[in-house]
Amino acid sequence: MKKNYITTPIYYVNDKLHIGHAYTTILADVLNRFHNLIGHKSFMLTGSDEHGQKVQEAAEKRGVSPVEHVDEYVLNFTKLWEKLNINYDDFIRTTDSRHTSKVKEMLTQLWEKEEIYLDEYEGLYSVSEERFVTEKEIDEGDFKNIIKLKEKNYFFKMSKYQDKLIEHINQNPKFICPESRKNEILGFLSKPLNDLCISRPKSRLNWGIELPFDSNYVTYVWFDALMNYITAIGWDSNEKKFNSYWPANYHLVGKDIITTHAVYWPTMLMAAKLPLPKTILAHGWWLFDDSKMSKTDGNTVDPLELIDLYGEDSLRYYLMRDMALGQDANYSLDKFIKRYNSDLANDFGNLVNRITIMVKKHFNDVVPEPGDYTEDDLNVIAIAKSTIDSTLRNFEHLKIHDAIEDILKLLRSLNKYLEINEPWKILKKEPNNVKATNSIYVSINALYIGTQLLHPIMPRKTTEISNVLGIEKIQHLNRNFDILKPGTKIGKSNSPFPRIQ
Ligand code: MSP
Repeated sequence: MKKNYITTPIYYVNDKLHIGHAYTTILADVLNRFHNLIGHKSFMLTGSDEHGQKVQEAAEKRGVSPVEHVDEYVLNFTKLWEKLNINYDDFIRTTDSRHTSKVKEMLTQLWEKEEIYLDEYEGLYSVSEERFVTEKEIDEGDFKNIIKLKEKNYFFKMSKYQDKLIEHINQNPKFICPESRKNEILGFLSKPLNDLCISRPKSRLNWGIELPFDSNYVTYVWFDALMNYITAIGWDSNEKKFNSYWPANYHLVGKDIITTHAVYWPTMLMAAKLPLPKTILAHGWWLFDDSKMSKTDGNTVDPLELIDLYGEDSLRYYLMRDMALGQDANYSLDKFIKRYNSDLANDFGNLVNRITIMVKKHFNDVVPEPGDYTEDDLNVIAIAKSTIDSTLRNFEHLKIHDAIEDILKLLRSLNKYLEINEPWKILKKEPNNVKATNSIYVSINALYIGTQLLHPIMPRKTTEISNVLGIEKIQHLNRNFDILKPGTKIGKSNSPFPRIQ
C-alpha cells in the first residue's frame, strides 16, 4: 500500500538553525501527525546536508577533519528536533554510506545512459552558492562573491527535459504550490534551460562524493543533496520499501530553493526514469523587521531560547498560526506573546480550567449524564461537527492557519455558550438542573473535539489535556460527538497555558 511520504529540506550541517528552519520541520511534523491522526500511514523524512565547500572550510578553520566536524554538528539538529517534539521516521545524512553509495550508483547509471558529458565551461561562479550563475540571476538575486571561472566539468543534460517538464507542470496543477511559485518556475522555463554542471574538481573541493567515472572530481552538492529523498527510502536497494513511499506526496521547501527542487530534481528523476513527486510546496520566509531572517544578516531567532522560556508547543502553535502558507510572515516576540495570551491562555486554557473545575465541583469529577438537548446545545454540537469537516478540508488544501482559526472559533464559541448559560450559577442553586448539566456535557465533549484537532500542532499539551479529560492517548481522530461518555472520570487541570506577563 502506498504510504504518505513527506520530506523537509536537508539542512546545511554548519548552520545554526533558526525559527525559519524550524518552521519547515514543524510543518512537516504537523502534516505527518495529521495524516496519521486521520488513519493514513504517513512517513516523514528529514536530515542534514553535509558535503561542500563551506563545510570543508569550517572544519579546516576549527582544525578538525570534515568527518569529525559533521559528526559533532549534526547533534545540534537532532537535539533541536527532539526539543521541538518532531516525530520524524528517518533522518538521513549525506555522509551515510546508504546515501553515498546510491548517489554513485545514480551517477554511474546516468553516465552509462549518456545523460552526463564532459565539457569545458567558462562562466560566472557564485562562491557562496557553490554554482555557476547567469548574468540575469546576478541582476535579480542577492549574490555575494561572484568570480569568473574556467574549468572542465561534467554536465547533466538537463536542457533535454525542458519541454517535458513544462508539460508536466501544466498537466499537474498541484505539482508546484502555491500557484505564484508555479508561475515563477514556468517563467524561468520560458527561456532556454542550460545543462547542469554536476561536478567540482578535487583541486578546489575535496569534501564530496567522488564521481565513479572520474576520481579527479567530486559531485556537485545539490546533485548529492537532492538524492536524499530517494536514497533514504531504499532506491536501488529495497524495491518494496521504495515503491511503497515513492513518489513523495510533499517535498516541503522554502521559496529560495524552489528552482533546485522544481527544475533540477524533476529532470534528474526523468533521466533516471523515475516518477516525479506529487507536490513541491514552497513556503515563504520568516522575516525580522521586514527582512529575511538569515545567519549572514545576523537577525535570526533561536528556537531553543523560545522553547526554554515558553515551551515547544507554544512555538509550534505560533509558527503554524501566524504564517499563511506561501506568504512571508514577520516575527516579533510581542506578536508571539499576544498570540499565546489570546489564543492559548485565554481561549483554550481558560476553557479547560473552567470546564474541569465545574465537573469537579458539581459532579464529583465525573462527566454528567445529559438530558434533552436545547436548540442552543444542538447549535454547539453542529459547530463542533462542522469544525471537524473544515479542519480536514483546510489540511487537505494545506491551509493550516485557517484550520487553526476555525478550531479556535469553536473554542471561543464554547466560552461564549458557557458565559450565556452560566451553569456555575445555576448548579449552585439547583444541582440537577438539566440545562446547566447539558451545557457541561456538551462543552466538555466539544472541547475534546477541539483538543483532538489541535493534536498535530501541539502534541504534548493536547495529550496532557486529553489525559485530564479521561482519555489516555489521542491516536485516531474520533468523529463522534459524545466521546466523553457520562461517568468518565476527569482529572485535575494544572492551567495548561499560564498567562505570560
Ligand atoms: N541544504 C539545502 C537544502 C537541500 S534539500 C535537498 C539548504 N539548506 S538550508 O539549511 O540553507 O535551508 C533549508 C531550508 O530553510 C530552506 O527551505 C530555506 O528556505 C529555509 N529557510 C532558511 N531561512 C528561512 C527563513 N528565514 N524563513 C523560512 N525558511 C527559511 O538550502
